Amino acid sequence: MAKKQQRVVYFNGEYVPESEAKVSIYDSALMFGDMVFEMTRSFNGQQWKLREHLERLYTGLKILRIPLKLTIDEMEAAVYETIERNKPSFNDDDEHRVLIDVTRGLLSLYHGIDGVEPGANVIIADFPLRWTIQGCSKLYETGINLKIPSQRAIPSHLMEPKIKNRSRLFYLMANIEVSMFKGENNWALMIDPDGFVTEGTGSNFFMVKDNVLYTPEGRNILRGISMQTVIDDLAPELNIKVIEKNLEPFDVYEADEAFMTSTPFCLIPAVTLNGLKIGDGRPGPITQSLLNKWGEIVDLDIVKQIKAWDKNIESSDTTTPYKFSNSKNATLTMDIDED
Ligand SMILES: Cc1ncc(COP(=O)(O)O)c(C=O)c1O
Repeated sequence: MAKKQQRVVYFNGEYVPESEAKVSIYDSALMFGDMVFEMTRSFNGQQWKLREHLERLYTGLKILRIPLKLTIDEMEAAVYETIERNKPSFNDDDEHRVLIDVTRGLLSLYHGIDGVEPGANVIIADFPLRWTIQGCSKLYETGINLKIPSQRAIPSHLMEPKIKNRSRLFYLMANIEVSMFKGENNWALMIDPDGFVTEGTGSNFFMVKDNVLYTPEGRNILRGISMQTVIDDLAPELNIKVIEKNLEPFDVYEADEAFMTSTPFCLIPAVTLNGLKIGDGRPGPITQSLLNKWGEIVDLDIVKQIKAWDKNIESSDTTTPYKFSNSKNATLTMDIDED
C-alpha cells in the first residue's frame, strides 16, 4: 500500500483520516514526553497478544497517573474497529501494525484555551507492518552486529523503563552514536550504569550458553511481549531452560549465540559484539529453532513474509526504532572504528 493513501485513525472516540488527528502544541507529551504507547502486530491478520500489550499500557497509565475514562475492554474494541475500517486500504499480504498512543493532555497551565480539549488524547493508528521492518529480511541470515554505545540505559530508579513511554531521547542518542560506527547492520546494545547488559533501543536481548538461554533480569528494561513469548511459550516447547540474570558484556563474549526480540521482527540473530564474534559469528541453531517454533505457533513463515515485502522496497536506509540513518544528515560524518 502506498503511504500517500490515507488511513483512518481512532482519535478520542472518533474515526478520522490520519491527517486530521492532531494533538495540541500544549500537550504534556510535547513538553515532557509524558505519554505511554504500544505497538502491536498481526500474524495472518490476527492480532498477536493484543491484551498483553493493553495491560502493559494500562499499567503505565496507572503509574503515571494519567486518568483515562476509556476502559481496557473499550480500548480493545476500538483497536479491532480501527483495523476493520482500514482493511480495504491494506494489501492482502500486509500485516496490521497498530500504534496506540495515550498522552496526558494539557498541563493545567494551558487549560481554558478556546477549542483545545484539556484531557488525555487516545490515538489508535493502523498501518502496514512492512513500514517498520523494511530491509530487515537479510538480517535473519547475516545477523546483526551489536555495539555498546557510551550512552547508558537509564536505570529504573531514575526513570522506569518498564513503562513503555515516549521519553526516548537516550535510545535515539544510542542509535545516533552507533550509526557512526563503521560497517553494516550495527545495532546498539545498551548497558546500565553498573555495566550490566540491558536491551536494544527497541528490542530485548538473549544469549545462549551451553544450550541454556540467558536474558537480563527484568529490572532496567522494557519487559517485552516478545521476550515473554520466548520465555513462556517457545523455550518450554523446546525444553530449553531460561535464566534471567545480570549479564555483563564478558558473558556475551563467551556466549555461543545471541539474538534480539521485538514485536515487528520477532527474533533476529546477533553475531558480533563490539567487533568480536559471538560463538562462530553466525546465526545459531537454537536461535533458528526458536524462530521456527514461533512460526509454527502463528502458522506463518515469518522470514519468508518479510523477504517477500523486501522485494518491493526502493531503499532500506531509513531511521527505524533500531537504527538511525544518517545518510541525509550531513552533520554526522565521524566514523568510529572499534575493530
Ligand atoms: C526499549 C524496548 N525494549 C524492548 C522492546 C520489545 O518489546 P516487545 O517485544 O513488547 O515489542 C521494545 C519494543 O518496542 C522497546 O521499545
